[in-house]
Amino acid sequence: MSKQLNRKNKIQEQYEKIAMAGGSLSCCSSSGGCCGTAETAVVSPIESSKTVGYNQSNLESIPQSSILGLGCGNPSTFAHIKEGDVVVDLGSGAGIDVFIASNIVKETGKVIGVDITDAMLDKARKYTEIHGYHNVEFKKGDIEEKIPVDDNSVDIVTSNCVINLTTNKEKTFREIYRILKPKGKGKMIISDLVTSKEIDADSVNIDNWCSCIDGTLTKENYMGSIKKAGFTNVEILDEKLYMELEEDERDQEKRQISSISIRAVKE
Ligand SMILES: C[S@@+](CC[C@H](N)C(=O)[O-])C[C@H]1O[C@@H](n2cnc3c(N)ncnc32)[C@H](O)[C@@H]1O
Repeated sequence: MSKQLNRKNKIQEQYEKIAMAGGSLSCCSSSGGCCGTAETAVVSPIESSKTVGYNQSNLESIPQSSILGLGCGNPSTFAHIKEGDVVVDLGSGAGIDVFIASNIVKETGKVIGVDITDAMLDKARKYTEIHGYHNVEFKKGDIEEKIPVDDNSVDIVTSNCVINLTTNKEKTFREIYRILKPKGKGKMIISDLVTSKEIDADSVNIDNWCSCIDGTLTKENYMGSIKKAGFTNVEILDEKLYMELEEDERDQEKRQISSISIRAVKE
């Protein structure tokens, strides 16, 4: 099995466990498997969501079971989503950012969540039905291979702490570019993790990759991948230190992992 396929299987296994546990499984427990700060291991998903930028009223307005505390920012605060917009959220998990966007785009708009893990999709679809969201759809897809959405059809793409989990970030950004509307109408607003030092492909630890650590790029390489995919006006909206890792045998210095929120436009 190729390293990439093995990693994808492991990501799905880990996020399936988290979906089943409903957010009560701590991110940094020995089972590992999701993007989280040390704090997320001891606080509730709601508290950890507030820590990364969600406000109380956003969180109260959506199905509580969609809040798993897996994000590293809050892209929707920067997205300026409007009534009638078509929004796609990549790596939508149990649907937190999809339901927030759904409340804004209302019945004339539409929100599509895309995720690779069946258990996450099942959970998100269950709460779509229970809470009667008519402008929401969840689709299965690997965002680095093919986002299951038409070319040039989307106003806003959001994503929260997901793209670091993909192997080829530029390919993922090219897929995002493909689905956005052209001529400055389509925008990507994402939150993700970047690192002070990348890990060589041969030294990657698969558990650390699934925990959003070993797949991170430096900020310069991350921004470079976005630009190479064709985006213009690439702008950092927010940047915070997320965690500092202890040195290990692969590092001579502590690695810092930061959370950044970025906006980029398809001209
Ligand atoms: C850290 S969680 C974030 C979930 C959600 N954005 C949130 O903030 O709650 C990462 C999510 O991305 C999904 N994922 C990972 N790799 C993916 C890929 N290549 N394509 C689609 N989804 C992916 C996982 O299944 C998981 O639901």
